[in-house]
Amino acid sequence: MLRRQLLAGCAALAFGLAAAGGAAAQDVFKIGLILPMTGQQASTGKQIKAAVDLYMAQHGNTVAGKKIEVILKDDGAVPDNTKRLAQELIVNDKVNAIAGFGVTPAALAAAPLATEAKIPQIVMAAGTSIITERSPYIARTSFTLAQSSEIIADWAIKNGIKKVVTMVSDYAPGADAQKSFSDKFTAGGGTIAEAIKIPLANPDFAPFLQRAADAKPDAVFIFVPSGQGGTFMKQFVERGMDKSGIKIIGPGDVTDDDLLPNMGDQVIGTVTAHLYSADHDSAKNKAFVEAFKKANNFRPNFMAVGGYDGMHLIYEALKKAGGKTDGDSLIAAMKGMKWESPRGPMSIDPDTRDVIQNIYIRKVEKKNGELYNVEFATFENVKDPVKAAKK
Ligand code: PHB
Repeated sequence: MLRRQLLAGCAALAFGLAAAGGAAAQDVFKIGLILPMTGQQASTGKQIKAAVDLYMAQHGNTVAGKKIEVILKDDGAVPDNTKRLAQELIVNDKVNAIAGFGVTPAALAAAPLATEAKIPQIVMAAGTSIITERSPYIARTSFTLAQSSEIIADWAIKNGIKKVVTMVSDYAPGADAQKSFSDKFTAGGGTIAEAIKIPLANPDFAPFLQRAADAKPDAVFIFVPSGQGGTFMKQFVERGMDKSGIKIIGPGDVTDDDLLPNMGDQVIGTVTAHLYSADHDSAKNKAFVEAFKKANNFRPNFMAVGGYDGMHLIYEALKKAGGKTDGDSLIAAMKGMKWESPRGPMSIDPDTRDVIQNIYIRKVEKKNGELYNVEFATFENVKDPVKAAKK
């Protein structure tokens, strides 16, 4: 009798535990957030982490009856780390989505794992066009380099720039930036005097800047990933190139809001095309910048909005999917989603899962004693031109 009671008790206990475990698993939605918190791209990790925290502080951590839990992992922007961490998050932590990805190689390394696990992969930072094609479970809230590079090429043509030296970091987004710019610029009658590639790791720009100066171009088109613009600008000024009349143009990564406040007045007048400026004139952005600065003591940059909007996309997809948490339901819910971001209006292309957004032309100016990218022209609802050209 006693034995039978004991067994029954054990069975009931076991059942109770299993049920509790099941309920807990169902009620929590886990996001594995993989970011470069250390190393050369650490500013991207810092910006995105701060934006994710802000989004959750403002919107709560319960969505469609699920408690949102973020598990942060530092990959140092090393793709082998990204892959291992994504694997661990999927297998051990049983995350429902992976997000972050500070650089293209990191986003690419995780893509096959998202496909295999059938969970959403939200790309909040990386900008090479091809990324979204690497898994049907990827959606992107950052940008593509082609979006800004084509638009600045068009601006250059219209503003009397005829001869350009391109300088890009020697990896995939640099190649995209270089190609998009050059194709558009030469089609408009411009000449590329030299196409220079700069090593991605610990770059010394000086020898490349000398080569650029020797070619006597009207402008240097520069792409370096967020975090390197300060060094580039410093070396440009050290060689006196700011006084030689050679303009700097490019996608806005080089005058990134994270570094811009400390770049010095020599960068005033630099014109770039980009998706976000902390100076963007909208009520939504003013509230975002104020809350972000209050929480962090630094300005949000374009990576921060990628993170903030990535969280928005996950939250809204969970609501729209009516409590379903499987990757297919969530990705279906994300397709075509539209909202107002601090950057302006944006949406997820239902065909490609890539970001559609305004691209602004901006000029560095001093406002209330601080350097800002001040937007002065808007190109609305820009799709990734590389994918558009393939159709
Ligand atoms: C990228 O690796 O895709 C990347 C990183 C930082 C940027 C732009 C692109 O600013």
